[in-house]
Amino acid sequence: MSTPPTSQRRAWKTPFTEALRCRLPLLSAPMAGVAGGLLAAEVTRAGGLGMIAAGHLRDVVGLEGQIEIFEENTKSTRGGREGDRSSSDLAIGFIGFSSLASPSGWEDYEYILRRYRPKAVQFFAPFLACRPSGGGGDNVGLAHEYGAKFIAQVGSVADARLAIRHGVDVIVCQGREAGGHGLRRELGNSAMSLASQTKRMTDLPVLASGGIANGRHLASALCYCDGASIGTRYWACRESIGDRLLQRRLTEANACDDVLRTTVFDQIQNELTTVRWPHPYDSVGALRNRTTEEWDGRSSDELRRAMDETDLLERYGGFRDISDADVVPVLAGEGVGEIYDIEGAYEVTLRIEEEAMDAINRLRSMHFNL
Ligand SMILES: Cc1cc2nc3c(=O)[nH]c(=O)nc-3n(C[C@H](O)[C@H](O)[C@H](O)COP(=O)(O)O)c2cc1C
Repeated sequence: MSTPPTSQRRAWKTPFTEALRCRLPLLSAPMAGVAGGLLAAEVTRAGGLGMIAAGHLRDVVGLEGQIEIFEENTKSTRGGREGDRSSSDLAIGFIGFSSLASPSGWEDYEYILRRYRPKAVQFFAPFLACRPSGGGGDNVGLAHEYGAKFIAQVGSVADARLAIRHGVDVIVCQGREAGGHGLRRELGNSAMSLASQTKRMTDLPVLASGGIANGRHLASALCYCDGASIGTRYWACRESIGDRLLQRRLTEANACDDVLRTTVFDQIQNELTTVRWPHPYDSVGALRNRTTEEWDGRSSDELRRAMDETDLLERYGGFRDISDADVVPVLAGEGVGEIYDIEGAYEVTLRIEEEAMDAINRLRSMHFNL
């Protein structure tokens, strides 16, 4: 596909593009270990809101390195919209239960806000964090003090209500179809139900997230909310910093049937790491593999016993470093069945736009007067 310069392309107008001053109603999700500066920059250059993942914010220097890569690669497109060169395009996603929990967590967060003045920050799992002591305040207020828009990713209507009450600027509604961590399958909702109900409660920009991997999906999201947050489709892009062997599996999966939301990986990983995903966020959307075949659906007591009494942890821990996709989680959402190649994020973003336009035009041609 030949791609005209972004400046010559159409601008979309939804409450999201207005609030974030970007050309397209989409953002690339912050994915820990996957979404670095180059991936975010390519999405931003194409007109979306590209997000860098801060993960658990344990490596501030590493995050600064990714921010530099982002700045370096977006120099000519500052401001998103043509003619607007006034502010940074930087957007960073944090994890609510862990990013601010280390002894220097709040200082690090404030340092990033003060030093880099991001246009937006996102928090998830949960979106809200309050300073434990010393004057109160929360992560939403601190972002606003430094001029950043606050994006809350939520998995339930109750959390969407809480987000509205806490003065956030954008709500991302993560459905059960999503790749990566999210509410357990018995607690979550579909992205469509959640985003649609959230949109009815507020004038804030609302995005759907989970299973959205192409322009037809984006067009359908625009029927009930203001755009989409897309993860797995970008994980399968050249600029992703994720493991190449695991990434290849994304293009080999051939249906949404291959994806499962499961707590098995968290139960195992929580034994092996110091940062433990808490209930109710201790489940991931991932490709089915030997580990899920063996353990999903069995009781947590059984898994517990196997970890205590067999070499399961050793096998799992030992395999961690060799990217064995049959054993470790390959995080993926249900849109993975429609990803066929590893491509550049810039081209992918522009294609999503074209496909969305085609889908909208097709809808226009579907009705007629009798
Ligand atoms: C590999 C991967 C890593 C993720 N890491 C994070 C993360 O660090 N923080 C976060 O808020 N969400 C994370 N997510 C979830 C995304 O924010 C988003 O909700 C999800 O990717 C949307 O579903 P989709 O993958 O089907 O597009 C991750 C998702 C994936 C696939």
